[in-house]
Amino acid sequence: MKIMIVVGARPNFMKAAPIIAAIRKHNDETSRYNIGLPNQNLAEMIDPILVHTGQHYDKLMSDLFFQDLKLPAPDIYLGVGSASHAVQTAEIMRKFEEVLLREQPDVVVVVGDVNSTLACALVTAKIPFRPSGKRPLLAHVEAGLRSFDQSMPEEHNRVLTDHLADLLFVTEESGVKNLRAEGIPIDRIFFVGNTLIDSLLTFKGKAAASTILDELHLRRHTNLGDSTDGIAWYAVLTLHRPSNVDDREAFLNILHGLEELASEYPVLFPAHPRTRKRIQEFSFEHYFVVPSLTISNHGIRVIDPLGYLDFLSLMKHAKLVVTDSGGIQEETTCLGIPCVTVRENTERPITVENGTNTVAGVSRTKIQDAICRQLSRTVKNSVPELWDGKAAERILAVLIGNGQFPR
Ligand code: UD1
Repeated sequence: MKIMIVVGARPNFMKAAPIIAAIRKHNDETSRYNIGLPNQNLAEMIDPILVHTGQHYDKLMSDLFFQDLKLPAPDIYLGVGSASHAVQTAEIMRKFEEVLLREQPDVVVVVGDVNSTLACALVTAKIPFRPSGKRPLLAHVEAGLRSFDQSMPEEHNRVLTDHLADLLFVTEESGVKNLRAEGIPIDRIFFVGNTLIDSLLTFKGKAAASTILDELHLRRHTNLGDSTDGIAWYAVLTLHRPSNVDDREAFLNILHGLEELASEYPVLFPAHPRTRKRIQEFSFEHYFVVPSLTISNHGIRVIDPLGYLDFLSLMKHAKLVVTDSGGIQEETTCLGIPCVTVRENTERPITVENGTNTVAGVSRTKIQDAICRQLSRTVKNSVPELWDGKAAERILAVLIGNGQFPR
């Protein structure tokens, strides 16, 4: 059975890695089981094909994640790079069609909600293989999430991909409800848990060996807070949504909303390339402190994007995380770290209901209030249902059940 897994942008890598690990495990077990069996009784091995569209291509946005997550090098690299939504999507589709026709997999797995997800889903759903006229099954991992915010490119990517998919793998109960409300038949929907959390649970221990806290001078500086474990009190910030950083006024509002926090704590800000460009373009440099070898006890410090293990370590010891990312709302929920989401909505309501997340909006006062509330709250969270590190194994079990090889 050939399973093609597509990745393209940074948040895809940690969602796809557990599926590849589950395939490896399946193949190891199958080859042990097959030893000594006559040929006609051999259980089927899975041939995984990893396709990277190249939507993200920088070392810090891509290569580092392959290394940290122990992902194999992609079998096929499309090298599409950055462009407008239309050009990027079209370029991925054009190149992916050639790959599909050549490789003829049984299943194509797309993850998340980026342009690569939709582009490859659309090609898979419409391709006829010759001479059978058949096409591969299309599986969407992280199906059913809805922000109901049509101004987000990701919302279109989610809705359209879900309506093209044959198998929809859902991370939280709201996803099942949303898909049912849109008329997706129940037998296509599988509530399996969250592969992003599979990665987090797999690599949490390894992240403990990261030296990032030392590199950022966040260890053993007890003058920075009442830390009992020798780690300074600090906050983490990530911002990359076009609606937050491409608009000068919106970006400025958020920076003003963070002023109070930054006057008390160091705020570590691993900046996405898009955000870094905007800081220069808007001449916002004076809102940030210059990273230096000496520890500063306040101010927003722009640093390069971090790899997976370093970022996990940074999040795990933070007093607070402020973000506009989707995945980070889930990761902080699982780690029990208070999170303030600087958006008007979330497609991941479980992180607010069960978790540590609060959706603040984007006005200065609302951000300030939310930060204040989150800093003074006693964290009480429960890990959402099925976020237990086994989502990828459940997904693989369904894929094997639906594949074209006999069981
Ligand atoms: C994409 C996803 C978004 C996801 C985010 C995570 C879409 C529509 N958006 O947004 O859902 O949350 O990834 O990061 O798919 N750039 C580099 N190097 C890179 C990649 C990008 O410098 O490796 C720069 C380029 O100048 C590019 C800009 O960042 O124009 C934005 O990249 P793009 O892939 O278009 O979207 P993201 O904002 O990263």
